[in-house]
Amino acid sequence: GTEDLRNAIANPTHVVQNSKRYMGSPHRWTIDGRTYTPVEIAALILRKLLDAAEERIGPIEQAVITVPAPFSDVQRDATIRAGLEAGLKHVTIINEPVAAALCYVLGSEGLWFTELAEDQRILVYDLGGGTFDLSLVQYKRDEVSVLASSGDLHLGGIDWNRALQDYICMLFARDFKRDPREDPKSLQFLAWEVENAKRSLSVRSRAALTCQHAGQRKTYQIEQANFEELTHELVERTIEITRRLLKDNKMGWAHVDVVLVTGGASRMPMIRKALKAVSGTTLNTSLSPDQSIAHGAAF
Ligand SMILES: Nc1ncnc2c1ncn2[C@@H]1O[C@H](COP(=O)(O)OP(=O)(O)OP(=O)(O)O)[C@@H](O)[C@H]1O
Ligand SMILES: [Mg+2]
Repeated sequence: GTEDLRNAIANPTHVVQNSKRYMGSPHRWTIDGRTYTPVEIAALILRKLLDAAEERIGPIEQAVITVPAPFSDVQRDATIRAGLEAGLKHVTIINEPVAAALCYVLGSEGLWFTELAEDQRILVYDLGGGTFDLSLVQYKRDEVSVLASSGDLHLGGIDWNRALQDYICMLFARDFKRDPREDPKSLQFLAWEVENAKRSLSVRSRAALTCQHAGQRKTYQIEQANFEELTHELVERTIEITRRLLKDNKMGWAHVDVVLVTGGASRMPMIRKALKAVSGTTLNTSLSPDQSIAHGAAF
């Protein structure tokens, strides 16, 4: 969340980021002399979620945990272990795009099957904070399965922040001959401004953003078109992965019945515009970008 983003800059040695990407790997974090495995980090996150949920609904012994479709058996096992370490007695794993598709076919209340044809192919485009996940999902007679998956483990909303931040630093350095990236405090302040400006630009055509460093302070206006130009290459990368997934599976857009967009970063209008242009279809944006996967998993 935004609070964590702030901490990550203020206190970088005490913040773990993107831990999901390391599940099942030998990666370790060392914090105050103690070493943590990805499973231990995941267990801490799950424990925190369980505490919050248990406060509302009482003891919880079982859970469904979602994972990216390309997760290997080793990564899935690690996820189950994290659940058990967090105190769960039984863990079921399902694929995130399947959960998103379930949310779509069951409707947001999970009560009704939408009036869909018997057999549908659903392309799930999920752009999160740090990763891009793309899956082609088949819905056939009340069953949902993954036909193919792709994506980029190192592409997500954070890259849009970085592009905007670098641009502002460049402008500031041109104005004051000092680069805000020299000082973690200036950068922390700027990162916060950048995140807010980015979110604002999802609903407005212009946003203001203040940069302060080395005793100087300036507010910059960013236009939607400006932001799109800065990040065009990032959008294009997701579109290229999308084209390739279809091509590698010998399919065209005619084989796709619906395009579902989810993930927080899919709120950016440039994403919807690009996907609409390449697919030639109307996108289904009815799912909550933050909750569709959790809703689907719950159903
Ligand atoms: N209104 C918005 N406009 C643009 N981006 C947004 C908006 N709201 C959230 N985001 C971005 O969405 C991202 C988080 O998305 P999401 O919650 O789907 O990620 P996640 O599932 O935690 O991460 P990942 O899928 O990479 O593991 C962040 O980069 C955040 O800045
Ligand atoms: Mg996600």
